[in-house]
Amino acid sequence: MKDIEDLKNKALGDIKSADSLQRLQEIKSHYLGRKGIITSLLKEIKNLPVEERKEFGKRINDLKLTLQEALGRKEKELQKKHLERSLAEEWIDLTIPFEGGCGTLHPITLTLERIVTIFRGMGFTVEEGPQIELERYNFDMLNIPPDHPARDMQDTFYVNKEGYLLRTHTSPVQIRTMLKNQPPIQMIAPGKVYRRDDDPTHSPMFHQVEGLVVNTDANLKHMKFVLENFLKSFFASDLPVRFRASYFPFTEPSAEVDIGCLICNSKGCRVCKESGWLEVMGCGMVHPTVLENCGIDPEVYQGFAFGMGVERLAMLFFGIDNIKLFYENNIRFLKQF
Ligand code: DAH
Repeated sequence: MKDIEDLKNKALGDIKSADSLQRLQEIKSHYLGRKGIITSLLKEIKNLPVEERKEFGKRINDLKLTLQEALGRKEKELQKKHLERSLAEEWIDLTIPFEGGCGTLHPITLTLERIVTIFRGMGFTVEEGPQIELERYNFDMLNIPPDHPARDMQDTFYVNKEGYLLRTHTSPVQIRTMLKNQPPIQMIAPGKVYRRDDDPTHSPMFHQVEGLVVNTDANLKHMKFVLENFLKSFFASDLPVRFRASYFPFTEPSAEVDIGCLICNSKGCRVCKESGWLEVMGCGMVHPTVLENCGIDPEVYQGFAFGMGVERLAMLFFGIDNIKLFYENNIRFLKQF
C-alpha cells in the first residue's frame, strides 16, 4: 500500500512537470497504457492472497481515476498554452506588398457573370435550386416519363436516398419557381449539373443556365428575340443565329439554337464538323402539361423556356478546346483570364 502511495506521488509529479502535449502523452501511456504500470498492477491482483485482493483492487482503481483526472486537467492547460503561443507567434502581415500579382476570377465564373448580366438587363430575375434534387422535379413534373432514355443509369447519378438524384439539368428550377410563384414569371437559373459523361467536351459536373418566361402572351417571336439578342450581346457580334426544330419532353414546339461558327466564320471547320453552325442551346414553348403540373392554367398562361451549357459558351468565347482545363486549376491557364 505504501508503494501505491509512492507511485501516485511520482505519477502526479510527472504530470505536473510535463511541458508539452507529446510529453503528457508519453506519461499517459507509461502509467495507463496497455503495457503501463497501472495495467500490469491490475493484472497482479489474481496473484494476491484472497483477503487482500479487494482492498488492493480498490486502491489501484482510485489511483487510476486520480491519474486520469490529473491528465485531463493538464491536457486542457497545455492545449490552452499551445493555442496562446501559436496565436502570438504565427501571424501574417497582410500589409506586406505581394509580388505575384493579382488573383483572377475563374473563366466559368466570368462567363456566368456575363450571362447573368445580360439577362438581368432584359428584366430577368435570378433563381436557384438544390443540386441534390427530387427525381419528381428533375424528371416527372417536366413531362419526362419513367421509361425516357434521359433517366438511364448511364446518364444520371442517383444518390442512395430513394427519390433523389444529382440534377441532370437546371430545368427543375423551372418547376420550383412555378410552384412558388404565379405568373408573370421571367427568370433564369444558373448552376451546377451532373451527368455520367467524361471526354474532352463533356465533364461529369458542368454548369447550365436555365430560362423561363410565363405570362399571358409569351410566344415564339418573343423567345426568338430574347435569345438572338442574348447571343449577339454575349459574343459581342452580329453573328448569324438559326432555330432548328427539335424535341424536348417539356416544350412543344421545341428548337435547338445554332450560331454561325466563330472559329471558321461559317466556312466549315473541324469544330463545326464542316457545317458552319454551332449548337449552343435548347428552347421551346413550355408544354401545357408542365404548366398544369405546377398549378398554372394553360388556357390562360403560356410560356417559353431555354437552357444552355456554360462551359460550351465559355469554350467558344475564349477559344478553349478541352473542357478539362476548367477544372485542373493550373495557374498558368487561370492567369490568362
Ligand atoms: N434541359 C435541357 C438539357 O439539359 C436543355 C433545355 C432545352 C432546357 C429546352 C429548356 C428547354 O428549358 O426549353 O439538355
